[in-house]
Amino acid sequence: MRIFSGIQPTGRKHLGNYIGAIRQYVDGQDRGEAIYCIVDLHATTVPYDHAGLRASVLDTTAMLLASGLDPARCILFRQGDVAEHTELTWLLSAVTAHGDLNRMHQFKDKSARQRELVSAGLFLYPVLQAADVLAYRAEEVPVGADQRQHIELMRDIAMRFNERFGETLVVPEHRIPEIGARIMDLQEPERKMSTTGSSEQGTLYVLDEPRAVVKKLKSAVTDSGREVIRSPEKPGVSNLIEVMAVIRGTDSARIEQEFDGAGYGAFKQAVADAIVEFLAPVRARYAELREDEGALEAVLGEGAERARAIARETLADVRERMGVGPPRRVSG
Ligand code: TRP
Repeated sequence: MRIFSGIQPTGRKHLGNYIGAIRQYVDGQDRGEAIYCIVDLHATTVPYDHAGLRASVLDTTAMLLASGLDPARCILFRQGDVAEHTELTWLLSAVTAHGDLNRMHQFKDKSARQRELVSAGLFLYPVLQAADVLAYRAEEVPVGADQRQHIELMRDIAMRFNERFGETLVVPEHRIPEIGARIMDLQEPERKMSTTGSSEQGTLYVLDEPRAVVKKLKSAVTDSGREVIRSPEKPGVSNLIEVMAVIRGTDSARIEQEFDGAGYGAFKQAVADAIVEFLAPVRARYAELREDEGALEAVLGEGAERARAIARETLADVRERMGVGPPRRVSG
């Protein structure tokens, strides 16, 4: 089983990212051949801080390693290091419908929010994402529910390519995490915790100082009443119960039992303590790893080499099938 996922370069990963995506990446290492890519090229599709992009990639690298990715058991690399991704993007654009790209929710949302330039890169974002996965002939893509449409599109692209040029690409499957997807904003518990669109107060970052965690928990929106129970009328308390259950590795009913009669104040303090303890080892390892940029670059460099060896083969097949460039020389 080959697993591939891409992650945006930012060190400011929040608890939802950590529990939903990053922990799933770590598990992927035991389930199959895991390949993870930090997508610096995708980051250029909206206005971004170009002077800070390299540092953001290293932040993310350190975060992933601190969370348990092990370069001996997975391939971790930076998208911009492997030129095959951009070449495959162009080749796949031949079997991508313009109309489909126009219908992508993320493109519509992001272009509507764009005040300066809606770049062609933003429009092609899903084709680059398809190239990321298809270059490795990955079978499974662990990624959030918000990526469903992009995964559907890459499946269509792979199928259309195979139909038109002959069986070449693997049609990948989506794998959505059940937990973590449910972690809600602390201030607006009706919406998901997110990097874009959530307030600082509503978002718990993996690297938040313990003091900040306690403060955010204390000011978290709770609901009327004082019982620690889940209910549709109590989205704030329900969210904290779920967070606590995930961290303790137990189910929500057990948490309700444990905090029966405790009141919101004591419960919030307990959740804050649990989160601080849960994240402490990641924060400590991150601080250590992030200092040694040479070592982080070495991990990415070695990952890129291993990635390239796989992607190069796919590209040779794709070029051969499409009639692009000279005929493929069969080696050996
Ligand atoms: N678009 C994805 C996101 O925003 C990131 C991504 C880029 C990705 N390339 C990918 C995810 C390939 C899965 C597979 O989360």
